[in-house]
Amino acid sequence: MPSYQLNINGKNYAVEATADMPLLWVIRDIVQLTGTKYGCGIAQCGACTVHLDGTPVRACSMPVSAVGKKPITTVEGLSSDLTHPVQQAWLTEQVPQCGYCQSGQMMAAAALLKKYPMPTDEQIDTAMQGHICRCGTYPRIRKAIKTAAKLAAK
Ligand code: FES
Ligand code: FES
Repeated sequence: MPSYQLNINGKNYAVEATADMPLLWVIRDIVQLTGTKYGCGIAQCGACTVHLDGTPVRACSMPVSAVGKKPITTVEGLSSDLTHPVQQAWLTEQVPQCGYCQSGQMMAAAALLKKYPMPTDEQIDTAMQGHICRCGTYPRIRKAIKTAAKLAAK
């Protein structure tokens, strides 16, 4: 089986996997970082979103062989002490209901705020499009993104 060198949340991992194994399986089953969730498996729900070199990608639909040397950040990599503005805002606004979709939502929000520190409603809509929440937490997500933007600006 081929071996891949991956950098995840600043740590290097050597993993053995088939070339077509989805990055999500590598992250969850091999590296054992289970914050990233499996929802649809076909790039439609956003639950599996991680950052690849800062850009949000759907790990269920990215083969591990396509990662190359780009660093990966999972929800565990936002911060280990809950100090990332998105983590703080999610707590302040009590966003999650069942929580299943939320790591994907948070990773999308974190990437958005990196690109647009004070995003407009339109920019939020575009960035969060296709991130499904079956509990309907969308209004709280929007509020929390705005709270995170304010926290980051302090
Ligand atoms: S599990 Fe990857 S987008 Fe739904
Ligand atoms: S909080 Fe339950 S699916 Fe989003």
